Amino acid sequence: MAGAGVSFSPPPYPYERLDVLKKLASVHDGGPIDCSIGTPIDPPPDAVLRELAKGTGARGYPTSQGSPDFRASAQAWMERRFGVVVPVNDVAACIGTKEFVGTLAGYLHLRSPDRDTVLYPAISYPTYAMGATLAGLRAVPVAVRDGHLDLESIHTDDIARALVLWANSPSNPTGHLDDLEGIAAWGRRHEVLVASDECYAEFTWAGRPRSILEHGSNGVLALHSVQTCALPISALELKAIEPRRATRRLLRRRRGFDRIPQVGAPARGVHGAGTHPGGRCRSVRR
Ligand SMILES: Cc1ncc(COP(=O)(O)O)c(C=O)c1O
Repeated sequence: MAGAGVSFSPPPYPYERLDVLKKLASVHDGGPIDCSIGTPIDPPPDAVLRELAKGTGARGYPTSQGSPDFRASAQAWMERRFGVVVPVNDVAACIGTKEFVGTLAGYLHLRSPDRDTVLYPAISYPTYAMGATLAGLRAVPVAVRDGHLDLESIHTDDIARALVLWANSPSNPTGHLDDLEGIAAWGRRHEVLVASDECYAEFTWAGRPRSILEHGSNGVLALHSVQTCALPISALELKAIEPRRATRRLLRRRRGFDRIPQVGAPARGVHGAGTHPGGRCRSVRR
């Protein structure tokens, strides 16, 4: 509850809302089946542990966009996995995928104060909407039909006010694959940045992993992560971005989310051929 002079109190976290439902379910036979939280249980790949163990003793402030090593290995990974060649200057590291998802809208709003809306899949990871709420923006859900964003259903007023459209393929929680080519084309047509959260690309169940970058980099941003394995170094996420230059600078340099300087070496381990953890990690309920 907000006190006197305080106008904002954060909405309940989704797990808190689930706690209420759990109580309700527990009065029934068998109680709830809790599929809500998965935490990785497999060990990080050996190559990563070896690199981390070297401990180069790096000191000083790291660059916020990620070391040249890190970005080059991320670039090579994207070429190998998706067949796209992203200029290394368009690749940047972020401190954590979640942190990036939760703060992107606020930064975009600084650049375009005349827009105030975040479009996101109605069935999705809660941080897309939370990022809008925390930045004082409008979070507008986009209907999802048969696993696809129903772009035609978006109201023209919402399109005109949109800072970003979030896409997530494969989707959390459904696993569905969306039409990234169609979404990129929609974003370009309406001049709305498409942020494609591809953190489960390595878990694609039908065919090979895909990226929106395969359909051109203009007006899109792809976000990748190694989060689904037991490698709790959030600095290893990467993204390739192609919005306007000043926005790129803002996202890369001004966020103040510096990362550990040694990140290049373990990243080489993760991005190295055959060692990316995706697709072979399990998770366990906690
Ligand atoms: C769709 C989606 N995007 C982003 C994230 C955040 O991942 P990270 O652990 O890399 O911050 C998650 C984590 O659950 C997720 O499900």
